[in-house]
Amino acid sequence: MRILAIETSCDETSIAVLQTKEDGDFSILSNIVSSQVAIHAPFGGVVPTLAKREHQKNLTLILKQGLAEAKLLKVQSSKFPPASQARALRAGKVQSNSAKFKVLKQILNREETLFKKLMPFLKKYAKPDIDVIAVTVGPGLEPALWVGVNSAKALACFWDLSIIPVNHVEAHIIANWLKPISGAQNSNARTQNLFPADCLIVSGGHTQLVLMRDFGKYEILGETRDDAAGEAFDKLAKMLNIGYPGGPIVSKLSAQAKKQKLAPSVVEGLKVKLPRPMINSKDYDFSFSGLKTAALYFVKTLNKKTLKKLTPAICAEFQQAAIDVLVSKTIRAAKEYNVKSVLLSGGVAANDLLRTSLEKEFKRFGLVFSVPPKKFCTDNAAMIALTAAKKTKKYNWQEITTEANLRIA
Ligand code: KG4
Ligand code: ZN
Repeated sequence: MRILAIETSCDETSIAVLQTKEDGDFSILSNIVSSQVAIHAPFGGVVPTLAKREHQKNLTLILKQGLAEAKLLKVQSSKFPPASQARALRAGKVQSNSAKFKVLKQILNREETLFKKLMPFLKKYAKPDIDVIAVTVGPGLEPALWVGVNSAKALACFWDLSIIPVNHVEAHIIANWLKPISGAQNSNARTQNLFPADCLIVSGGHTQLVLMRDFGKYEILGETRDDAAGEAFDKLAKMLNIGYPGGPIVSKLSAQAKKQKLAPSVVEGLKVKLPRPMINSKDYDFSFSGLKTAALYFVKTLNKKTLKKLTPAICAEFQQAAIDVLVSKTIRAAKEYNVKSVLLSGGVAANDLLRTSLEKEFKRFGLVFSVPPKKFCTDNAAMIALTAAKKTKKYNWQEITTEANLRIA
């Protein structure tokens, strides 16, 4: 089965083509990710209306690249349909292209830019050799999600294909199967002895601890009550005026502080010490807004010169505080639920200290620890495609809608 996947839930426009095999193995034929980071950087966070505009502008081009890389992009061979198609048309079994374009105009009536770019593409290129379309339907930013969902609907309608709706958080977890876990060869073998799995999903929009009993069987153990972990990094970076997205910059400055032996530091008599919110609470919930506020109060006491000197130390302490809480709760959940593996995922899983801290802990317990390669931690359509590959239920395009607050369980 060949799956064409579309991801537009936040600020990356991504298209992937995945080919599954009967033994459960698969290959990623393409995975194109176009980031909008530069567009949102001046605002220090993702602006939903701008995200929608950029997805609309870029999606057709990314789709074309994704299909081309998968060697599935073929120019329409003739203006006239093949004989069998012509017979089906006369018998009224399929719609003519002009009738389909009318439906497409309705599907995309709120995505004018997308419609204008997609139409010439559909006229020029033949239906690619794919079997199904997968698309992120939530959770995410509603205006951004709609661009992906409406393009999936338009393509499914035009190419007579079904759609598999995908939960973005589930896809972050499944990203762990985009590489071999425990060195096993194929996706079925990779699954052996992993469940129940303790899954920590940390991104710009989500922070959740999920117990995974099998594919499709999830229980949310806890989640953030306010900001997501990545959002907290982004807000700290905005406060310190060090750039966007915050996570990678905070991580880099933290490493610098460590090298200079600044963390935890005393500079000009000032010690940077931030709280570890909810680290001792009996539940599996998180809270990062208090950490951000504590950092803000501390920053406000500093003059410009001291702030500049202390910025790497503040980053290091903030990163350590967030990681201490994440690691502590993940360990507690692993023990309570007697799990066989720990799966880290989401954009913040690209953080080196978080990766190594969790790995060190769980290797000690003899558990399988997995984290996707960094390129599959941040948003990408390959993880959407693989999640769809684990599902059997397909839908008509008319049945698909977005769900901004979709829950995994
Ligand atoms: O998964 P993702 O691409 O998008 C969402 O679904 O939200 O995650 C983006 C988030 C941003 O908040 C970014 O600051 C954070 O992941 N991030 C990191 C690192 N790289 C990206 N956070 C900490 N350390 C990193 N190295
Ligand atoms: Zn994400």
